[in-house]
Amino acid sequence: MATMNRQLRLQSRPKGLLAPGDLQLVESPLPELQDGQALAQVKYLSIDPTMRIWMAMDSYLPAVAIGDVMRSGGFAEIVESRHPDYKKGDRITGLTGLQNYLIIDASGGKFFQKVPKIPFVSDTIFLGVLGMNGLTAYFGMEIAQPKKGETLVVSAAAGATGSVVGQIGKIHGCRVVGIAGTDEKCNWLTKDLGFDAAINYKLPDWKQKLAAATPNGVDINFENVGGEIMQTVLGLMNLHGRVVVCGLISGYNKEDPALASLAQVLVKRLRVEGFIILDYVPRFMEAAKQLGQWKMFGKIKDRETIVEGLEKAPDAINMLFTGGNTGKLIVKV
Ligand SMILES: NC(=O)c1ccc[n+]([C@@H]2O[C@H](COP(=O)([O-])OP(=O)(O)OC[C@H]3O[C@@H](n4cnc5c(N)ncnc54)[C@H](OP(=O)(O)O)[C@@H]3O)[C@@H](O)[C@H]2O)c1
Repeated sequence: MATMNRQLRLQSRPKGLLAPGDLQLVESPLPELQDGQALAQVKYLSIDPTMRIWMAMDSYLPAVAIGDVMRSGGFAEIVESRHPDYKKGDRITGLTGLQNYLIIDASGGKFFQKVPKIPFVSDTIFLGVLGMNGLTAYFGMEIAQPKKGETLVVSAAAGATGSVVGQIGKIHGCRVVGIAGTDEKCNWLTKDLGFDAAINYKLPDWKQKLAAATPNGVDINFENVGGEIMQTVLGLMNLHGRVVVCGLISGYNKEDPALASLAQVLVKRLRVEGFIILDYVPRFMEAAKQLGQWKMFGKIKDRETIVEGLEKAPDAINMLFTGGNTGKLIVKV
Protein backbone atom coordinates (compact mmCIF):
# COMPACT_ATOMS: atom_id res chain seq x y z
CA MET A 1 0.00 0.00 0.00
CA ALA A 2 1.27 3.46 -0.91
CA THR A 3 2.67 5.50 1.95
CA MET A 4 3.84 8.64 0.14
CA ASN A 5 1.96 11.21 -1.93
CA ARG A 6 3.26 13.66 -4.51
CA GLN A 7 1.35 16.88 -5.02
CA LEU A 8 1.70 20.03 -7.08
CA ARG A 9 0.94 22.94 -4.77
CA LEU A 10 0.36 26.55 -5.79
CA GLN A 11 3.34 28.60 -4.61
CA SER A 12 2.77 31.87 -6.46
CA ARG A 13 0.12 33.36 -8.73
CA PRO A 14 1.47 33.28 -12.30
CA LYS A 15 2.05 36.35 -14.40
CA GLY A 16 1.52 35.36 -18.03
CA LEU A 17 2.48 31.74 -18.72
CA LEU A 18 3.34 29.58 -15.70
CA ALA A 19 6.93 30.03 -14.57
CA PRO A 20 9.02 27.33 -12.90
CA GLY A 21 8.11 27.33 -9.24
CA ASP A 22 4.53 28.68 -9.58
CA LEU A 23 3.54 25.08 -8.91
CA GLN A 24 5.85 23.22 -6.58
CA LEU A 25 6.17 19.44 -6.41
CA VAL A 26 5.93 18.34 -2.78
CA GLU A 27 6.30 14.81 -1.37
CA SER A 28 4.63 13.99 1.91
CA PRO A 29 3.49 10.87 3.78
CA LEU A 30 -0.09 9.74 3.25
CA PRO A 31 -2.07 9.90 6.48
CA GLU A 32 -3.58 6.64 7.72
CA LEU A 33 -7.08 6.04 6.41
CA GLN A 34 -9.84 6.74 8.95
CA ASP A 35 -13.38 5.35 9.14
CA GLY A 36 -15.55 7.10 6.56
CA GLN A 37 -12.61 7.75 4.19
CA ALA A 38 -11.47 6.22 0.89
CA LEU A 39 -8.06 6.42 -0.77
CA ALA A 40 -8.07 7.02 -4.54
CA GLN A 41 -5.11 6.75 -6.89
CA VAL A 42 -5.17 9.39 -9.60
CA LYS A 43 -4.59 7.89 -13.04
CA TYR A 44 -5.25 10.80 -15.39
CA LEU A 45 -5.47 14.57 -14.98
CA SER A 46 -7.67 16.84 -17.04
CA ILE A 47 -5.70 19.94 -18.06
CA ASP A 48 -8.08 22.85 -18.58
CA PRO A 49 -7.69 26.57 -19.37
CA THR A 50 -9.84 27.45 -16.38
CA MET A 51 -7.00 26.23 -14.13
CA ARG A 52 -5.15 29.40 -15.09
CA ILE A 53 -8.10 31.46 -13.79
CA TRP A 54 -8.28 29.41 -10.57
CA MET A 55 -4.58 30.21 -9.99
CA ALA A 56 -5.14 33.94 -10.40
CA MET A 57 -8.45 35.10 -8.93
CA ASP A 58 -11.83 34.35 -7.44
CA SER A 59 -14.33 33.65 -10.23
CA TYR A 60 -17.23 31.19 -10.37
CA LEU A 61 -15.08 29.14 -7.90
CA PRO A 62 -12.75 30.66 -5.32
CA ALA A 63 -9.10 31.02 -6.30
CA VAL A 64 -6.83 28.19 -5.13
CA ALA A 65 -5.13 29.37 -1.93
CA ILE A 66 -1.35 29.71 -1.91
CA GLY A 67 0.08 26.46 -0.54
CA ASP A 68 -2.95 24.36 -1.51
CA VAL A 69 -2.89 21.44 -3.93
CA MET A 70 -3.69 22.81 -7.39
CA ARG A 71 -7.31 22.14 -8.29
CA SER A 72 -7.94 20.05 -11.42
CA GLY A 73 -10.28 17.47 -12.80
CA GLY A 74 -9.09 13.90 -12.98
CA PHE A 75 -9.84 10.20 -13.23
CA ALA A 76 -8.98 8.00 -10.25
CA GLU A 77 -9.44 4.50 -8.89
CA ILE A 78 -10.29 3.61 -5.29
CA VAL A 79 -7.42 1.54 -3.89
CA GLU A 80 -8.56 1.28 -0.26
CA SER A 81 -11.89 2.10 1.35
CA ARG A 82 -13.44 2.61 4.76
CA HIS A 83 -16.09 4.85 3.13
CA PRO A 84 -19.68 3.53 2.95
CA ASP A 85 -20.17 4.65 -0.68
CA TYR A 86 -16.93 3.39 -2.23
CA LYS A 87 -15.28 0.00 -2.62
CA LYS A 88 -11.84 -0.94 -3.88
CA GLY A 89 -11.76 -0.85 -7.67
CA ASP A 90 -14.45 1.85 -8.06
CA ARG A 91 -13.53 4.30 -10.78
CA ILE A 92 -14.35 7.96 -10.32
CA THR A 93 -14.06 11.34 -11.97
CA GLY A 94 -14.17 14.74 -10.30
CA LEU A 95 -11.88 17.36 -8.82
CA THR A 96 -8.93 15.14 -7.93
CA GLY A 97 -6.28 17.89 -7.89
CA LEU A 98 -2.75 17.61 -9.26
CA GLN A 99 -1.54 14.74 -7.11
CA ASN A 100 -0.91 11.00 -7.10
CA TYR A 101 -3.41 10.15 -4.34
CA LEU A 102 -6.37 11.79 -2.69
CA ILE A 103 -8.42 10.96 0.36
CA ILE A 104 -12.17 11.25 -0.01
CA ASP A 105 -13.95 11.83 3.27
CA ALA A 106 -17.64 11.77 4.15
CA SER A 107 -18.36 15.26 2.84
CA GLY A 108 -16.11 14.99 -0.23
CA GLY A 109 -17.95 12.04 -1.83
CA LYS A 110 -20.56 14.20 -3.51
CA PHE A 111 -17.92 15.89 -5.64
CA PHE A 112 -17.10 12.62 -7.44
CA GLN A 113 -19.01 10.58 -9.93
CA LYS A 114 -18.56 6.82 -10.39
CA VAL A 115 -17.92 5.82 -14.01
CA PRO A 116 -18.16 2.41 -15.68
CA LYS A 117 -15.47 0.48 -17.56
CA ILE A 118 -16.47 0.60 -21.22
CA PRO A 119 -14.98 -2.29 -23.24
CA PHE A 120 -12.43 -1.17 -25.87
CA VAL A 121 -12.73 2.49 -24.81
CA SER A 122 -9.94 4.37 -23.01
CA ASP A 123 -10.79 5.67 -19.54
CA THR A 124 -9.62 9.10 -20.69
CA ILE A 125 -12.92 9.52 -22.55
CA PHE A 126 -14.42 10.49 -19.18
CA LEU A 127 -12.19 13.58 -19.21
CA GLY A 128 -12.95 14.51 -22.85
CA VAL A 129 -16.02 13.68 -24.95
CA LEU A 130 -17.87 12.16 -21.97
CA GLY A 131 -16.35 14.63 -19.49
CA MET A 132 -16.54 18.38 -18.93
CA ASN A 133 -15.59 19.25 -22.52
CA GLY A 134 -18.22 17.08 -24.22
CA LEU A 135 -20.84 18.27 -21.73
CA THR A 136 -19.83 21.90 -22.28
CA ALA A 137 -20.16 21.45 -26.03
CA TYR A 138 -23.53 19.75 -25.65
CA PHE A 139 -25.15 22.36 -23.40
CA GLY A 140 -23.46 25.26 -25.18
CA MET A 141 -24.98 24.03 -28.43
CA GLU A 142 -28.36 23.86 -26.70
CA ILE A 143 -27.98 27.60 -26.01
CA ALA A 144 -26.96 28.11 -29.66
CA GLN A 145 -30.20 26.53 -30.94
CA PRO A 146 -28.67 25.40 -34.25
CA LYS A 147 -30.93 25.05 -37.26
CA LYS A 148 -30.32 23.14 -40.47
CA GLY A 149 -28.53 25.25 -43.06
CA GLU A 150 -27.23 27.85 -40.59
CA THR A 151 -23.54 28.75 -40.37
CA LEU A 152 -21.70 28.03 -37.12
CA VAL A 153 -18.23 29.39 -36.41
CA VAL A 154 -16.31 27.94 -33.47
CA SER A 155 -12.95 29.19 -32.17
CA ALA A 156 -10.26 27.01 -30.50
CA ALA A 157 -11.92 24.53 -32.82
CA ALA A 158 -9.29 21.79 -32.62
CA GLY A 159 -9.39 21.75 -28.83
CA ALA A 160 -11.31 19.45 -26.52
CA THR A 161 -14.49 21.55 -26.46
CA GLY A 162 -14.42 23.18 -29.90
CA SER A 163 -13.90 19.88 -31.76
CA VAL A 164 -17.09 18.44 -30.23
CA VAL A 165 -19.03 21.71 -30.74
CA GLY A 166 -18.35 21.62 -34.49
CA GLN A 167 -19.35 17.98 -34.79
CA ILE A 168 -22.62 18.61 -32.94
CA GLY A 169 -23.17 21.48 -35.39
CA LYS A 170 -22.77 19.02 -38.28
CA ILE A 171 -25.19 16.59 -36.62
CA HIS A 172 -27.74 19.46 -36.65
CA GLY A 173 -27.09 20.15 -40.35
CA CYS A 174 -25.14 23.40 -39.99
CA ARG A 175 -22.34 24.68 -42.17
CA VAL A 176 -19.44 24.50 -39.69
CA VAL A 177 -16.32 26.64 -39.85
CA GLY A 178 -13.56 26.18 -37.29
CA ILE A 179 -10.78 28.57 -36.32
CA ALA A 180 -7.51 26.99 -35.13
CA GLY A 181 -3.81 27.77 -34.86
CA THR A 182 -2.07 25.39 -37.29
CA ASP A 183 -2.68 23.91 -40.76
CA GLU A 184 -2.36 20.43 -39.26
CA LYS A 185 -5.21 21.19 -36.82
CA CYS A 186 -7.29 22.67 -39.66
CA ASN A 187 -6.74 19.55 -41.77
CA TRP A 188 -7.90 17.35 -38.91
CA LEU A 189 -11.09 19.43 -38.61
CA THR A 190 -12.00 19.27 -42.30
CA LYS A 191 -10.63 15.85 -43.28
CA ASP A 192 -11.49 13.77 -40.20
CA LEU A 193 -14.22 15.61 -38.33
CA GLY A 194 -16.27 16.80 -41.30
CA PHE A 195 -16.04 20.58 -40.72
CA ASP A 196 -16.92 22.45 -43.93
CA ALA A 197 -13.93 24.77 -43.55
CA ALA A 198 -11.20 25.55 -41.06
CA ILE A 199 -9.18 28.75 -40.90
CA ASN A 200 -5.66 29.04 -39.48
CA TYR A 201 -5.82 32.34 -37.59
CA LYS A 202 -2.02 32.65 -37.63
CA LEU A 203 -1.93 33.22 -41.40
CA PRO A 204 -1.88 36.91 -42.40
CA ASP A 205 -5.01 36.69 -44.59
CA TRP A 206 -7.12 34.67 -42.15
CA LYS A 207 -9.84 37.33 -41.90
CA GLN A 208 -10.43 37.30 -45.66
CA LYS A 209 -10.41 33.49 -45.61
CA LEU A 210 -12.96 33.45 -42.82
CA ALA A 211 -15.21 35.85 -44.73
CA ALA A 212 -14.89 33.68 -47.85
CA ALA A 213 -15.74 30.55 -45.85
CA THR A 214 -18.94 32.15 -44.51
CA PRO A 215 -20.62 33.44 -47.71
CA ASN A 216 -24.04 33.52 -46.03
CA GLY A 217 -22.76 35.25 -42.91
CA VAL A 218 -22.59 33.69 -39.45
CA ASP A 219 -25.64 32.63 -37.46
CA ILE A 220 -23.87 31.10 -34.45
CA ASN A 221 -20.59 32.18 -32.91
CA PHE A 222 -19.44 29.62 -30.35
CA GLU A 223 -16.79 31.71 -28.66
CA ASN A 224 -13.87 30.05 -26.89
CA VAL A 225 -11.17 32.68 -27.43
CA GLY A 226 -12.34 36.32 -27.35
CA GLY A 227 -10.24 39.30 -28.43
CA GLU A 228 -9.51 39.85 -32.11
CA ILE A 229 -10.99 36.49 -33.15
CA MET A 230 -14.30 37.30 -31.48
CA GLN A 231 -14.39 40.82 -32.94
CA THR A 232 -13.80 39.44 -36.43
CA VAL A 233 -16.53 36.82 -36.17
CA LEU A 234 -18.99 39.35 -34.70
CA GLY A 235 -18.39 41.52 -37.74
CA LEU A 236 -19.70 38.69 -39.93
CA MET A 237 -22.83 37.93 -37.89
CA ASN A 238 -26.31 37.89 -39.39
CA LEU A 239 -29.35 39.55 -37.88
CA HIS A 240 -30.67 37.64 -34.86
CA GLY A 241 -27.60 35.45 -34.64
CA ARG A 242 -26.60 33.74 -31.38
CA VAL A 243 -23.28 34.17 -29.60
CA VAL A 244 -22.42 31.55 -27.02
CA VAL A 245 -19.72 32.96 -24.77
CA CYS A 246 -18.12 29.75 -23.56
CA GLY A 247 -14.55 30.93 -22.95
CA LEU A 248 -12.16 33.81 -23.55
CA ILE A 249 -8.80 32.03 -23.43
CA SER A 250 -6.94 34.88 -25.14
CA GLY A 251 -7.46 36.94 -21.98
CA TYR A 252 -6.59 34.39 -19.28
CA ASN A 253 -2.84 35.11 -19.29
CA LYS A 254 -3.15 38.89 -19.33
CA GLU A 255 -3.33 41.45 -16.56
CA ASP A 256 -6.17 43.26 -18.34
CA PRO A 257 -8.43 40.76 -20.05
CA ALA A 258 -10.92 43.41 -21.13
CA LEU A 259 -12.59 42.54 -24.39
CA ALA A 260 -12.92 45.06 -27.14
CA SER A 261 -16.18 46.53 -28.35
CA LEU A 262 -19.31 44.44 -28.22
CA ALA A 263 -21.25 47.04 -30.21
CA GLN A 264 -22.10 44.46 -32.87
CA VAL A 265 -24.22 42.69 -30.26
CA LEU A 266 -26.36 45.77 -29.91
CA VAL A 267 -26.82 46.78 -33.53
CA LYS A 268 -27.50 43.25 -34.73
CA ARG A 269 -29.86 42.36 -31.83
CA LEU A 270 -27.73 39.31 -31.07
CA ARG A 271 -28.60 37.06 -28.19
CA VAL A 272 -25.40 36.58 -26.16
CA GLU A 273 -25.44 34.09 -23.36
CA GLY A 274 -22.59 33.15 -21.09
CA PHE A 275 -22.70 29.89 -19.20
CA ILE A 276 -20.82 27.75 -16.72
CA ILE A 277 -21.08 24.02 -17.20
CA LEU A 278 -21.62 23.44 -13.46
CA ASP A 279 -25.18 24.85 -13.85
CA TYR A 280 -26.07 21.70 -15.78
CA VAL A 281 -24.96 19.06 -13.24
CA PRO A 282 -28.50 17.59 -12.87
CA ARG A 283 -28.61 16.91 -16.64
CA PHE A 284 -25.11 15.43 -17.06
CA MET A 285 -26.38 11.85 -17.39
CA GLU A 286 -28.80 12.78 -20.20
CA ALA A 287 -26.01 14.51 -22.11
CA ALA A 288 -23.46 11.75 -21.50
CA LYS A 289 -25.91 9.16 -22.91
CA GLN A 290 -26.41 11.19 -26.09
CA LEU A 291 -22.68 11.92 -26.49
CA GLY A 292 -21.87 8.24 -25.87
CA GLN A 293 -24.33 7.22 -28.57
CA TRP A 294 -22.89 9.70 -31.07
CA LYS A 295 -19.39 8.46 -30.23
CA MET A 296 -20.44 4.79 -30.64
CA PHE A 297 -21.97 5.44 -34.06
CA GLY A 298 -18.94 7.40 -35.22
CA LYS A 299 -20.77 10.73 -35.37
CA ILE A 300 -18.29 12.21 -32.92
CA LYS A 301 -14.56 11.53 -33.14
CA ASP A 302 -11.96 12.65 -30.67
CA ARG A 303 -8.24 12.99 -30.22
CA GLU A 304 -6.05 13.25 -27.13
CA THR A 305 -2.69 14.81 -26.38
CA ILE A 306 -1.20 12.86 -23.48
CA VAL A 307 1.75 14.15 -21.46
CA GLU A 308 3.47 11.65 -19.13
CA GLY A 309 4.22 12.38 -15.47
CA LEU A 310 2.67 14.49 -12.70
CA GLU A 311 5.76 16.74 -12.70
CA LYS A 312 4.97 17.72 -16.32
CA ALA A 313 1.56 19.18 -15.38
CA PRO A 314 2.81 22.82 -15.24
CA ASP A 315 4.27 22.49 -18.78
CA ALA A 316 1.00 20.89 -19.88
CA ILE A 317 -1.02 23.85 -18.56
CA ASN A 318 1.17 26.19 -20.63
CA MET A 319 0.56 24.03 -23.73
CA LEU A 320 -3.09 25.14 -23.63
CA PHE A 321 -1.97 28.72 -24.20
CA THR A 322 0.67 27.97 -26.84
CA GLY A 323 -1.62 25.59 -28.75
CA GLY A 324 0.49 22.50 -28.01
CA ASN A 325 -2.56 20.26 -27.74
CA THR A 326 -4.95 18.87 -30.31
CA GLY A 327 -8.13 17.58 -28.75
CA LYS A 328 -8.21 16.77 -25.03
CA LEU A 329 -5.04 17.50 -23.08
CA ILE A 330 -4.39 14.94 -20.36
CA VAL A 331 -1.56 14.20 -17.97
CA LYS A 332 -0.95 10.48 -17.40
CA VAL A 333 0.13 10.33 -13.78
N1 LIG B 1 -18.11 27.84 -19.87
C1 LIG B 1 -17.69 26.68 -19.38
O1 LIG B 1 -18.27 26.08 -18.47
C2 LIG B 1 -16.45 26.07 -19.99
C3 LIG B 1 -16.13 24.72 -19.74
C4 LIG B 1 -14.97 24.19 -20.39
C5 LIG B 1 -14.17 25.00 -21.19
N2 LIG B 1 -14.53 26.31 -21.36
C6 LIG B 1 -13.73 27.21 -22.23
O2 LIG B 1 -13.63 26.64 -23.53
C7 LIG B 1 -12.42 27.06 -24.14
C8 LIG B 1 -11.65 25.82 -24.64
O3 LIG B 1 -11.30 25.02 -23.51
P1 LIG B 1 -10.75 23.52 -23.70
O4 LIG B 1 -10.66 22.94 -22.34
O5 LIG B 1 -11.54 22.82 -24.73
O6 LIG B 1 -9.24 23.78 -24.19
P2 LIG B 1 -8.62 23.40 -25.62
O7 LIG B 1 -9.46 24.09 -26.65
O8 LIG B 1 -8.43 21.93 -25.72
O9 LIG B 1 -7.17 24.08 -25.53
C9 LIG B 1 -7.04 25.46 -25.64
C10 LIG B 1 -6.75 25.87 -27.11
O10 LIG B 1 -7.03 27.26 -27.24
C11 LIG B 1 -6.26 27.79 -28.30
N3 LIG B 1 -5.73 29.10 -27.86
C12 LIG B 1 -4.99 29.36 -26.75
N4 LIG B 1 -4.69 30.67 -26.67
C13 LIG B 1 -5.24 31.26 -27.78
C14 LIG B 1 -5.27 32.61 -28.28
N5 LIG B 1 -4.68 33.61 -27.63
N6 LIG B 1 -5.93 32.83 -29.45
C15 LIG B 1 -6.54 31.82 -30.11
N7 LIG B 1 -6.56 30.53 -29.69
C16 LIG B 1 -5.92 30.26 -28.54
C17 LIG B 1 -5.10 26.79 -28.56
O11 LIG B 1 -5.28 26.21 -29.86
P3 LIG B 1 -4.78 26.92 -31.21
O12 LIG B 1 -3.60 26.13 -31.69
O13 LIG B 1 -5.94 26.80 -32.11
O14 LIG B 1 -4.40 28.33 -30.87
C18 LIG B 1 -5.29 25.72 -27.49
O15 LIG B 1 -5.00 24.42 -27.95
C19 LIG B 1 -11.64 27.86 -23.08
O16 LIG B 1 -11.87 29.23 -23.29
C20 LIG B 1 -12.29 27.40 -21.78
O17 LIG B 1 -12.16 28.36 -20.75
C21 LIG B 1 -15.63 26.86 -20.77
